[in-house]
Amino acid sequence: MTTRFVAPSILSADFSKLGEDIEMINQSEADYIHCDVMDGVFVPNISFGIPVIEKVAEMATKPLDVHLMISNPDQFIVPFRKAGASILTVHYETCPHLNRTVQSIKNEGMKASVCLNPHTPVHLLDDIIVDLDMVLVMSVNPGFGGQSFIKNSYKKIRLLKEMIASKNPKCLIEVDGGVNFETGANLYDAGADVLVSGSFIFKSDDPIATIRKFKNL
Ligand code: DX5
Ligand code: ZN
Repeated sequence: MTTRFVAPSILSADFSKLGEDIEMINQSEADYIHCDVMDGVFVPNISFGIPVIEKVAEMATKPLDVHLMISNPDQFIVPFRKAGASILTVHYETCPHLNRTVQSIKNEGMKASVCLNPHTPVHLLDDIIVDLDMVLVMSVNPGFGGQSFIKNSYKKIRLLKEMIASKNPKCLIEVDGGVNFETGANLYDAGADVLVSGSFIFKSDDPIATIRKFKNL
């Protein structure tokens, strides 16, 4: 059985009572708090940025898993470390000098993670996988919560699992978008280690029980 980590995405939280939703995650069996940062350029939506992450970090007892959906992420590596990120994810599609970006994240003491859009093939990570702590596979087109899961993601996770087994077995696979109990169980079977879930957790009647069930799928 692979590791079963859960990272609730606060993109689907109620921002008028964000403190209560962070406290709910603190009380739950969640492993990370997934924070989606969007710039309205790389993705067609704007979410929240550094001041919000700082406040979340003050309230959180779980590590922050910060997913940057922004162009030119290099200039924000230090600010996000200072804001409280433990894992920093950049998109492959935004980083022409990905090796440098990954080393900069690690030099700041954070875990380095690279995200692939649904159309970006796994084999493009061949020469960077040895340097990564995690790969984030987008199973929807990034920008919005509540979208339908793209089934081709299962194949990508199986391919990635093979690459990781041969080149860097410590690297985790995280999956983001359209994750519910059905897709989640299939994703763990395919080799995923960390499931991100936003709307499914926050729209459920009992988010703490939903998180617990994800841990025991
Ligand atoms: C989408 C974000 C996701 C989003 C997932 O661009 O990266 O983290 O919150 O939301 P759900 O789980 O609702 O698909
Ligand atoms: Zn995300």
